[in-house]
Amino acid sequence: MGCPAGGETPALAEATGGLFGFVAQIAADGEYVADGWADRIVQAGGRGELGQGEVVSLLGGILVAAMDTTVNMLGNLAHALATHPDQWALLVERPDLVPAAIEEALRYESPVQPGFFRVTTAETTVAGVTLPAGSRVMAAFGSANRDPRRFADPDRFLVDRSPNDHLAFGRGVHFCLGAPVARMIGRVVLEELVANAAGVHLAGPFVRKPNRMLRGFDSLPLTVRHRSRR
Ligand code: HEM
Repeated sequence: MGCPAGGETPALAEATGGLFGFVAQIAADGEYVADGWADRIVQAGGRGELGQGEVVSLLGGILVAAMDTTVNMLGNLAHALATHPDQWALLVERPDLVPAAIEEALRYESPVQPGFFRVTTAETTVAGVTLPAGSRVMAAFGSANRDPRRFADPDRFLVDRSPNDHLAFGRGVHFCLGAPVARMIGRVVLEELVANAAGVHLAGPFVRKPNRMLRGFDSLPLTVRHRSRR
C-alpha cells in the first residue's frame, strides 16, 4: 500500500498508465455521450483551451473521483444495513428517512479515508500544535466523522441521525463537485431496496479493500430477497 516517498511503485505506474491509456482511447474514438461533460472537455482540448495531457487527466480524474467513491458508498451502505437490522426495520417503517440514511452511511463509513493532504500557507495552530508554513497536513475525513465532540454516539449507525454535518465530501473550495449526483444515486438505490427488499443479509465472509484512499470492500457477499418472494 502507498508509494515510496516522492515516487510511484512500478505496479501503481502500470495501473495508472493503463487507466489513462484507456481514457485517451475513449477520447480519441469519441465514445462518450454527445454534449455531456466528457464531450465538453474534449471540445475544449480541440479548441486549444486545454492541452491533450490536461484533457486525459481531467477525464480520468473525474472518472476515478466519481466511480470508485460512489461504488464504495453503496457497498458501505449495504454492509451497514446488513449489520444493523434494527436500522433496516426503521427505514422500512419510515422511508422518509432514506436521505438521512445516505448521509449517515457517508459519515459512518466515509468512502474517502483516511483523507487528502493540504499544505499550510502560513504558520497555524491546531489543537495546541503549531504547524509551520509549508507543513503537509492530512485532513482525515473518516476520523472527523467519528469525532465525539461533534457527533453523539459516533460509532453507532443511526439512520435518523440529525444534525449530520459530516465531511465525507470535504469542505471549502474543493468540496466534492459530484456530491449531488452521489447523493441522488444513493437515494435511488436505497428507495428501491426499502420498497422491494425483504432485507439485506450477509451471505458469507467479506474482504475489506486494502487501499490508502478509499474505504470499502474487495468482496461483500449479500443476500437480498424480493419482499414478495420471501
Ligand atoms: C459517495 C461518493 C463521493 C464521495 C464520498 C466523494 C468525496 C470527495 C471528497 C472527499 C473530495 C475532496 C474534497 C476536498 O479535497 O476537500 C471530492 C472532490 C471531488 N469530487 Fe467527489 N466524491 C464522491 C462522488 C463524486 C462524483 C459522483 C463526482 C463526479 C460526478 C465527483 C467529483 C469530484 C471532483 C471533480 C472533486 C474535486 C473538486 C475540487 O478539487 O475542486 N465526486 N470528492
